[in-house]
Amino acid sequence: MAHAQLPVIPRPRSFGETMRKDWWWLQPAIVLLLLSSFVVYATWAAFQGEHYSYGPYLSPFYSPELFGNSPHAWFGPPPAWWPGWLVFSPALLILPFPGLFRLTCYYYRGAYYKAFWADPPACAVGEPRKQYCGEAAFPLIVQNIHRYFLYIALVFLVVLAHDVYKALWFTDPVTGHQSFGLGLGTLVLAANVILLGGYTLGCHSLRHVIGGYLDQLARRPVRRRLYDCSSRFNRAHMRWGWPSLFSVAFADLYVRMCSMGVWTDWRIL
Ligand code: FES
Repeated sequence: MAHAQLPVIPRPRSFGETMRKDWWWLQPAIVLLLLSSFVVYATWAAFQGEHYSYGPYLSPFYSPELFGNSPHAWFGPPPAWWPGWLVFSPALLILPFPGLFRLTCYYYRGAYYKAFWADPPACAVGEPRKQYCGEAAFPLIVQNIHRYFLYIALVFLVVLAHDVYKALWFTDPVTGHQSFGLGLGTLVLAANVILLGGYTLGCHSLRHVIGGYLDQLARRPVRRRLYDCSSRFNRAHMRWGWPSLFSVAFADLYVRMCSMGVWTDWRIL
């Protein structure tokens, strides 16, 4: 007598349950530690409102400095309309833009969904929620705004590159005369722009913008070449992402320490 096959319904895994034997928890734990440390440092630095410039150097957390008390400010001192109850810091006016660019990055989303929300903690590991809504519903659908932050990030990249150019011109404190030079701080700011450039040029959204529209690749050879170039950066997006995160924090720390007199800037030329 033939037996009817009953469907096998797998039992949902409970949170953290897995058959994996490797250290699957290590990567989310490292991401949690590194991203939390960065957010704590960046928030602290943004609220300081001082020691963000030193000679021709300007911290990338404060660039572009729209209003402020340093010679780098575009529109002069802090505006009168700034609410008195809120501490003024030039970083508060601009830092949300690069911050949201990174927060909505496709790579970082994958990393912090695992590390902060355990959703899921790793492949084939039980997660705490029963339903998966993905990014098709509010609030995560807002992540699709990433493309617009990319446009702003590209502008910031140009501004930071200009900061490196300005960091090549040192003013003599006695004569006030400006002369070409190269300090360790110039190299720190330049390395930061290179790393941020590698990260930004590999953005998924940039590939979509330059590579075509809808589901087609662009036919113009120039756009195809740009697409290939961006794809090369994109394949190493994670490897650009972390060093550029550290470099932007280190560049702020370097300028801050020099401004406070803790570190001495080494003049190479
Ligand atoms: Fe990572 Fe756009 S996808 S920066």
